Amino acid sequence: MEETKKRMISGIKPTGHLTLGNYIGAIKQFIKYQDDYELLVFIADLHALTLPIDPKELRQNTKDLISVYLACGLDPEKVVLFKQSDVHEHAELGYIMACNSNMGELSRMTQYKDKTQKISNKESIPTGIFIYPALMAADILLYDADYVPVGIDQKQHVELTRDLAIRFNSHYSDTFKVPEPVINKQGAKIASLSAPEKKMSKSESDKGTIYLLEDLNVIRKKIMSAVTDLGHEIIYDPENKPGVSNLLVIKSSLSGIAISDLEKKYEGMGYGEFKRDVADTVCEHLKGLQDKVREIQSSGAIDKILADGAAKASYLASKKLNKVYRKVGLRANK
Ligand code: AMP
Ligand code: TRP
Repeated sequence: MEETKKRMISGIKPTGHLTLGNYIGAIKQFIKYQDDYELLVFIADLHALTLPIDPKELRQNTKDLISVYLACGLDPEKVVLFKQSDVHEHAELGYIMACNSNMGELSRMTQYKDKTQKISNKESIPTGIFIYPALMAADILLYDADYVPVGIDQKQHVELTRDLAIRFNSHYSDTFKVPEPVINKQGAKIASLSAPEKKMSKSESDKGTIYLLEDLNVIRKKIMSAVTDLGHEIIYDPENKPGVSNLLVIKSSLSGIAISDLEKKYEGMGYGEFKRDVADTVCEHLKGLQDKVREIQSSGAIDKILADGAAKASYLASKKLNKVYRKVGLRANK
């Protein structure tokens, strides 16, 4: 890796099944960046523990996530690919960041509010979900990342990371690089097929979510029954035509064809034919992906890739944590 490249880091939690939203909003971006940036991509498995999860499911999700990363084209020769829990510095710096954050800023996080509003007994809100952004800040700050490519829902957490870094730097002297979020313009928020005003999400297992590894026939059915909008024009108008616009974004992201060109292509076409075309593109894309995932899972290559990635990440993370331990007074200041 050349030193002149800017550094980027991002991760995905191995909770639930990966969705088309994860692919278009996050993973596809990583692939795009791997040549031009020094990229670190990890499996945020410690974050998966912030809400209850079955150990067997966590193991399977972790295996699926690394396989999907590889199948989508993340190249372990170019990218540092690792599992968060393999690099113990994440948990350690996460603790330090939790000690340098406050209840006010953590309770203002939209994701925290969303995820806990469904819990009726507030006393039972798991502490992990509350301090989650402190761990996420540690994930980023450990590596002096310049940029953090994420979907729009994570922007607030990266902004909090910036605040925590600036606060730490001014309190203990310059220690952390202050990172910037990178949100892709198109596809930052893929919507649910059945409720296009909502985000397509892995926690909401409904007919509106396309899972990357699910049966292609099921995927086709979901797209064919996607909610479309009044009228019959196939144009990009997220406000008045959220359903059609979402399908256009999906088609454009997977085919590489600009939305304006798609609008021309679909002029005069009915919704049924339009959806069939989107379904063809999605299924063709995911068939290739699913075949590769199966190949990777039976190749036995995963363990070594993760071990190599963890060794590289640990090298960087341990240097940074040492510095932090010195700054805060846990180690001799030499
Ligand atoms: P999560 O599934 O919440 O762990 O998210 C992993 C990554 O995928 C994050 O960068 C999210 O912002 C992104 N992501 C998740 N769902 C979507 C969606 N529906 N549209 C775009 N990006 C998404
Ligand atoms: N919180 C992110 C999510 O839910 C995952 C994540 C954890 C992450 N640590 C990160 C993303 C560091 C970018 C950088 O999607």
